[in-house]
This record gives sequence, C-alpha cells and structure tokens, in this order.
Amino acid sequence: MKVLTNPALCVGADLPAWLAAGGGTGLSHALAEPDAIIPLLEAAGLRGLGGAGFPTHRKWASVAAQPGPERWIICNGNEDEPGTFKDRFLLAEAPHQVIEGALIAAVAVKAAQVVLYVNPREDTAVRACRAAVDAWMAHPLAEAVSAAIGARLALRVMESSGLYIGGEETGAVSSVMGGFPFPRLKPPFPVEHGVGDAPTLINNVETLAQATHILWHGAEWYRALGLGDAVGTKLYSLSGDVLRPGLHELPMGTPLRELVFGQGGGMLAGKAFKAVFTGGPSNTLLTAADLDVPLDFENVRARGSRLGTGAMIVVGEGTSILRKTAEYVAFFAASSCGQCPSCKIGTHQVSRILERLESGAGRVDDLTALENLARMLPGSGRCGLVDGAATVLASSLATFRQEYEAALPSD
Ligand SMILES: Cc1cc2nc3c(=O)[nH]c(=O)nc-3n(C[C@H](O)[C@H](O)[C@H](O)COP(=O)(O)O)c2cc1C
Repeated sequence: MKVLTNPALCVGADLPAWLAAGGGTGLSHALAEPDAIIPLLEAAGLRGLGGAGFPTHRKWASVAAQPGPERWIICNGNEDEPGTFKDRFLLAEAPHQVIEGALIAAVAVKAAQVVLYVNPREDTAVRACRAAVDAWMAHPLAEAVSAAIGARLALRVMESSGLYIGGEETGAVSSVMGGFPFPRLKPPFPVEHGVGDAPTLINNVETLAQATHILWHGAEWYRALGLGDAVGTKLYSLSGDVLRPGLHELPMGTPLRELVFGQGGGMLAGKAFKAVFTGGPSNTLLTAADLDVPLDFENVRARGSRLGTGAMIVVGEGTSILRKTAEYVAFFAASSCGQCPSCKIGTHQVSRILERLESGAGRVDDLTALENLARMLPGSGRCGLVDGAATVLASSLATFRQEYEAALPSD
C-alpha cells in the first residue's frame, strides 16, 4: 500500500526519472481541466495532514474565490514537533511529488508565487528541493503552468527559521515576508490575508503530495486505498518503545494495534504496551484500551484525541509518562514566542512543576496547580502552542494520575 513511499517514485531530485515513472500526469490533468481540480479533491475526501485535518478542497476554494491578482502558496515543510519525521523524508527523497502538488494547487487557485518552506536543519531536503525546483523551472511544464495562471510562475525554496512556531500558518506567513515567525490572531486567516496581505494557501508537504496522486489516479482510486470509511493512505512517524521505529505508510483507518505490533514489530524488550502520544505530543494519549481504534480522523477524534501529523510515540511499561510529559512540555515552553503571557508564563509554570515532581521534590498542592493550569490555559494564546501543552498535560494527568501521585514525597 505504498503510494507516497513507493520506491519507484522516490527518485530524489531526478525529474526525468519522476516523469518516466508517470509523474507529471496529475499536473497534465490539472492543466487540461483546471475547474475540475477542487471538486476532485472534494470527491477524494482529502484532508490536511499537517495537524488540523481541515478539508483541503475548502481551503483551496477559499483562496480561489479571493479577489485581486496576487496569490501565494506556502508548502509547509517546517516540521519541528518532537516525534514527527515524515515531511523531511518526502522533501529529500520524493520532492517532485510535493512540487507537482504545489503546482496543481497553483493552477487551481491561480497563484504565481509558490514557496517550498523547508526546515534548514534538514539540509538533505533543502538540497534536493533546490535541485528539483531548478529542474522544474527549466521544464516546459513550468511554462504551461504560467500560461494557465496568467502570470509568470515563481517557484522557489525558502529556508524557514527552524523554530517550531514558524510552522504555524501565520508564523510561516511572517517568516516568508522576512520577519520573525510570530503567529498572529486569526481571523483573518491566511486564505484571505497572507503574504503581503495577498490570499495565501498553506498546506502541509504530505497534503500536497497526496493531491498529486489524486489528480493522477482519480478520487475513486484514492478513496479505495483507505479501510472502512477512511480514505487514502497516511504516513506514520513511529517512535518510542517499539522494535521497528520509522516511517510507515499505511491505509488510513489501519488499527493502532497493527501499526505498533505489526509494522512496528511490537514492544521493545517484551515490555507491555502502556500508551501512545498520538498525532505528536500535543494531543490526548491513547492507551491499551484504544489499541483497536482505526487510525483515521473520525475514529481517533471519537476517542477524544487527534490524528494530528501521524506521529505516534509509543510508551511501554517501565517508561515514565510523567518524564515524557515533562520533556514535551519543556519543548513547548522553550518554543513559546513570548507574545502571549499565558503561553510564555503558563508553559514554563507547568514545565517547572513537572520537573519538580520528576526530581522527587514535588509539593502536595502541585497536582491541583497542574489541574488548574490545564483548565485555564487552552484557548488563551494566539496560536495552538499553549493548547498543545495543556492538552498533553491534562491527558497524562487524567490517565496516569497514579504516576503523578507516586512522584509526590510520602511525608
Ligand atoms: C505551533 C504550531 C506549529 C505548527 N507546525 C507545523 C509544521 O511544521 N508543518 C505543518 O504542515 N503544519 C504545522 N502547523 C499547522 C499549520 O498551522 C497549518 O494548519 C498546516 O500547515 C495546514 O496544512 P494542511 O491543511 O495541509 O494540514 C503548526 C501549528 C502550530 C499551532
């Protein structure tokens, strides 16, 4: 079931090899019938794979409907959250799938300005993208895209700041404009006011790569890749206490058990499965009771969590949930841009308490303080960073309270 990770399509920056393997077909379909692109994505049921799962066709339609001659596309390859390592693979090994998706989007929404926004720490990805962009710009298909848009295509690679907040969509806009990636309040959303106030479409790398295949093979083909009611495939960044960590592409709707015990080879050193930080470390944990949940947007949400980026950090018996939570909250605290006092102070406050508990110097009222913070912090920031920290805290505290209590001094 390998689509995005099909070795025949992972040809690095070699554009002739990509075209020989059938690449370019999706873009040709898009150029032949630009008005059919967005309805096709709707029929396929594609949703954003950068964390929020927003229906892709609605975002594209919003940008296409905006007035004015200038539009931008940002292909979001910032990828900085702990445990997520899918976009760097696509950008380094299969950049043409991503670029073709971005060009299909450019044709659909009539955007001449297309930016591949790549984390500079991923230097292999940056190099592959630069070479791939040069190859596309020298190919007649780029001319055809310019003609369809009615303006000269400007396709380029831009290195992000590498900061976590630079992946948030308004942070990315600010970064592309040359500023510090401060997120801002929404609305207005970038689809209306993005780069230089122009309508801007921001999609995750994996989302755009999937769009390429939908335009190539059709909506029915794409839907049939999923299990049950789920559609397409999903890249899972599997890490933690499993025998075979790594990037696994599976049908959307594959049960968590199959990911961990099938693809992942089961638990390390025979440890019992305890939990998984689901969709990255900013969501609600799933536990052994959830092992049969199909991994798709609806079913994971029904369990109170989110599929997020598809990062799955597995925790076995013997690994402390309190320790892992402390690590992740410390990451969020260090990543706060400092604009919102509740985020800047709140995440540090939580981090300090977790570190204190972890070091055995906890105080009796620490758990009450954590519960209060988990209640007060969500929704208090300009972006979702503080919400992520509060969610993982609330979830681990509710589900593994005994670990927190055991960390308190006994007298
Ligand atoms: C703090 C923060 C960091 C984010 N980092 C990324 C990122 O690195 N890559 C990404 O695609 N989306 C990231 N997002 C989500 C984006 O804001 C946005 O929803 C996404 O790029 C939209 O693409 P999609 O609709 O294709 O999923 C982040 C969100 C937040 C709150």
